[in-house]
Amino acid sequence: MTLEELPTDLPVPIDDGAADHLLGMHLPSIELRSTTGDTVDLSEVGSPWAVVYVYPRTGRPDQELPEGWESIPGARGCTPQTCSFRDRASDFAAFGAEVYGLSVQASDYQKEMVERLHVDFPVLSDESMEFGKSVRLPTMEAAGMTLYKRLTLIVRHGRVEHVMYPVFPPDQNAAEALSWVRARLAAKSDPAATWNERYARSTSVFGQEPNSLVAEELAGLSPRRVLDLGCGQGRNALWLAAQGHEVTGLDLSDVGIAHARELAEVAGLEVTFEVIDLVDEWQPREEYDLVLLSYIQLPAESRRIVHGKAATALVPGGMVLVVAHHLDNLNQGVGGPPMAEALLTEDDLVEEFAGLDIERVEKVLREVERDGVTKTAHGVVMRAVKR
Ligand SMILES: C[S@@+](CC[C@H](N)C(=O)[O-])C[C@H]1O[C@@H](n2cnc3c(N)ncnc32)[C@H](O)[C@@H]1O
Repeated sequence: MTLEELPTDLPVPIDDGAADHLLGMHLPSIELRSTTGDTVDLSEVGSPWAVVYVYPRTGRPDQELPEGWESIPGARGCTPQTCSFRDRASDFAAFGAEVYGLSVQASDYQKEMVERLHVDFPVLSDESMEFGKSVRLPTMEAAGMTLYKRLTLIVRHGRVEHVMYPVFPPDQNAAEALSWVRARLAAKSDPAATWNERYARSTSVFGQEPNSLVAEELAGLSPRRVLDLGCGQGRNALWLAAQGHEVTGLDLSDVGIAHARELAEVAGLEVTFEVIDLVDEWQPREEYDLVLLSYIQLPAESRRIVHGKAATALVPGGMVLVVAHHLDNLNQGVGGPPMAEALLTEDDLVEEFAGLDIERVEKVLREVERDGVTKTAHGVVMRAVKR
């Protein structure tokens, strides 16, 4: 059997949790030698996407495999994996995704491999293991060598958006990574369709009660002009209207807005709802006393735009309230989008609302029931006032 073929009876690697911490991580700035002759800094890749597949060790046709190699779960298959990425190079390029291989082999050893297999993308050498130690890549010992376990990172703007671990079978890895990027791009390119589809399944996807953090922060406020951005099916807007506020709700989902209007009518509440894209269409004017952003879950670039507009929409003395899923929710919590770029930290909020007086910004842990089990949701709340 050649190195390019994969035995059918290989032991299957299990998920030992050793890659959990990588999700959401900003990759460190470390120069790695590439088979192209340059160096690559993975903190700078991923504009818009990079796929970094980390593998233990490719063999060579003129050398025996290390003893016992095929009986180590996850060891065999680096050459078929590399060939699978080589064969889909044009598909990745069509999505703007760069591909990188990475292992602990010396760059010269890797160069022989890329020339023999006609691989066009850069294969990176972490021979000193500086990068692997810095991000705590899981390792295995084989034939006296310390090697990386096979895993694949999908990176956007230097941050790990998705981790594939374990990777098995290795020759399917490129196709699976490609499917992930394709699905993510579909959701990003047509958020209205994605949200419409979700709302079409139920008129209360997030329940009909206001979000508890919103209710805690805003209960008892004297009546004012309120703007609910990304109001969805209107659970917060309706509650605010019932508290006596003059409420406008904006959202790009016409299905969500139709549900919100129906619920307002049933409840006999006056609320202005409008279908609009907050990133591309909405032109804010300084006219609201309170702007609410409850779990809008926008990608970081769009979120910055909307946060800037939210501040513009406030009158002097007006208040903005943001409640969102925290970045830590990705690997420590439950619920929320499984994408680092749509999650927030306290620092993101402080930076994005730097022109306002921030009165409260903090991480909030909440116990939630999922399938009869109590779990913790990691949220973040920010309240700020325009001078
Ligand atoms: C998780 S839901 C939250 C809905 C509501 N704020 C709540 O807490 O129930 C996110 C909402 O943001 C809306 N949204 C996402 N991107 C948007 C955009 N660019 N412009 C307007 N609304 C957007 C979606 O349609 C969706 O209704």
